[in-house]
Amino acid sequence: MTTVAEPLRVGVFFGSRSVEHEVSVITAQQAIAAMPADRFVPVPVYIAKSGAWYTGDQLLQLDRYKDIDRLIAASTRVTMRPDPSSGGELLEVDGRRGLLGGSARAARFDVAMPLVHGSNGEDGTLQGLFELAALPYCGCDVASAALSMDKRLSRTTLRGAGIPVLDDVMVSRERWQHEADAVCTELARQPGFPMYVKPRRLGSSIGVARVDDGDALRTALAVAFGYDTSILAEAAQDESIEINCSVLGAGDDVRASVCEQPVTRGTLSYADKYLSGAKGKGGAKAPAGGMKSSQRIIPAPISESLTNRIQETAMASFRAIGAAGVTRVDFLVSPASDSFVVNELNTLPGSLSFYLWEASGLHFDALLARLIEMAIARHREQQATTSSIDTWLLTGRPA
Ligand SMILES: Nc1ncnc2c1ncn2[C@@H]1O[C@H](COP(=O)(O)OP(=O)(O)O)[C@@H](O)[C@H]1O
Ligand SMILES: [Mg+2]
Repeated sequence: MTTVAEPLRVGVFFGSRSVEHEVSVITAQQAIAAMPADRFVPVPVYIAKSGAWYTGDQLLQLDRYKDIDRLIAASTRVTMRPDPSSGGELLEVDGRRGLLGGSARAARFDVAMPLVHGSNGEDGTLQGLFELAALPYCGCDVASAALSMDKRLSRTTLRGAGIPVLDDVMVSRERWQHEADAVCTELARQPGFPMYVKPRRLGSSIGVARVDDGDALRTALAVAFGYDTSILAEAAQDESIEINCSVLGAGDDVRASVCEQPVTRGTLSYADKYLSGAKGKGGAKAPAGGMKSSQRIIPAPISESLTNRIQETAMASFRAIGAAGVTRVDFLVSPASDSFVVNELNTLPGSLSFYLWEASGLHFDALLARLIEMAIARHREQQATTSSIDTWLLTGRPA
């Protein structure tokens, strides 16, 4: 007799209090559309810009996000317990009283798939909640997610692992508020013009600017400090092209995708990345938009030996930060000098980099299945790890 396994319920978390909110909605819709229906049931958990959580079937339709207020009004506001009694239950919140509506269970999930780009999701915060609730979740753990979100900390880690990265100068908002003139003078000297100014913990090119002179520097700093409490300034790599490579796996079991060259003039902007509407190939069912529709060349038009070195370095970077799941490692490559630096790691890349994996022979549905299987394997390992011990510390030494 054969028993048919129940499909796993996958809690797909997206949106959140992040400047990349909309991009996350697209990534989540693409993932939900590509999830193998015989094995997984997607349970959408939309985190609104207010931070409130909602669930319900209407959240599965991308066009409903054109009118967020109506969509939210038609959805069920939920929360979950932050302790191991949670069991993945999404509990209804009584909107009028702002309290849990008894113990009403609106939905339940077996494994969480955080698909929030940027703050309050990609940065270890959601991951921390799933740890507290002892639930399996896809992708990076708390430490590696937090590390990669912070461009300063991730570069320090990569440098320590012998991986080439740019030098940068960090400035705090507090210092900027008190000594703007001195900050501008120092940055004009080091890194000097032309430079790039960027928020320390953001993504999607938001708040990033190429700066050629003192006036532009002031404007760029004012913008970047609107998004973060510290910024980085670094020398512009004007002779470089951008090459990205995705890495999938965990621990020593990792593989690299083919490389892509995103095509732009100057700084790769939010619009270049998500709104260009180029005819990307992509999965048949996945909605358009997101990283999938931006302009790129796959495989990147670089030599085989450079491709190999970039893939090796991408995997080494992934291991150095202790990543898990799917990450995209972004490089600045100088073909003239045959050299490169790692610019940044994205542990929740736009569209989960599925277009790079499809070009590498792994379809989106298989990529998702692999992410979920890895989440469950890690959880099993954690369950087998001791997290509390019996001691007489509080009860007094036994006689
Ligand atoms: N030092 C640099 N030299 C040249 N271009 C850069 C540099 N830093 C950033 N850029 C450009 O700006 C874009 C966004 O910067 P990035 O560091 O990737 O931040 P984000 O996390 O917002 O993607 C990059 O894709 C690239 O086009
Ligand atoms: Mg980037």
